[in-house]
Amino acid sequence: MECCTVNGLDKYFDSENAQQKVEDYLSAGLEERAQHIVDFLKGQGLAGQSLLEVGCGVGGLLIELLKAGAEKGVGVDAAPAAINAAQGLAEKQGLSGKVEYQVLDFAASPNSLSTADIVVLDRVVCCYPKMRELVLPAAQHAHKFLALTYPRDLWWVRLRIMAENFFYWLSRIEFRTYLHPPAKILGAALEQGFQPVLQKVFGEWHLVIFGRQT
Ligand SMILES: C[S@@+](CC[C@H](N)C(=O)[O-])C[C@H]1O[C@@H](n2cnc3c(N)ncnc32)[C@H](O)[C@@H]1O
Repeated sequence: MECCTVNGLDKYFDSENAQQKVEDYLSAGLEERAQHIVDFLKGQGLAGQSLLEVGCGVGGLLIELLKAGAEKGVGVDAAPAAINAAQGLAEKQGLSGKVEYQVLDFAASPNSLSTADIVVLDRVVCCYPKMRELVLPAAQHAHKFLALTYPRDLWWVRLRIMAENFFYWLSRIEFRTYLHPPAKILGAALEQGFQPVLQKVFGEWHLVIFGRQT
């Protein structure tokens, strides 16, 4: 399926990138940040819960949430190579009956997807130029929890992102990393009736899990 070329995502997250991520996941499991999302949600009770992961990459996090008891999951990603790899990985793990994957720019077509109990965007907001177009519909799709990770606004993170983007520019790579203001990301989730229930820092990443206010 032809998707989109917003921010050069389909070219940057290509099959080589996906293969490396599959190998990393199979050899070392999830990174600490992503594992923390699984552990928190497991503690809240995953049985019977539906999942939507936006920017799922090769799908390791969805797999772990399903193994931890979630009922079913949908993973979407703008990069066809990531979705191909995710489908292969789910098959290998015997989970293809519980998870569906789709190539989709979620910000462009959020309403083509059903809502879910839990919505996750792990390291995705920084890959997309328009933060609100991702976070608002993600929050609207979540019944119970919304998990977001995004870069912290620190001088060394800014410097690293500037250097990376300069390298991309020099190399004529279309992809750019974005440091969206964390307060605005939080604000977008709060607007949709969520409150932070967990906040944690992992190096350059900020993890916030929001719960719906009742
Ligand atoms: C840095 S990777 C993170 C992948 C995975 N969540 C992880 O943490 O390993 C960002 C992913 O988000 C996807 N992405 C960015 N913007 C997107 C959008 N608007 N809709 C769907 N996927 C998107 C990219 O294609 C890429 O696979």
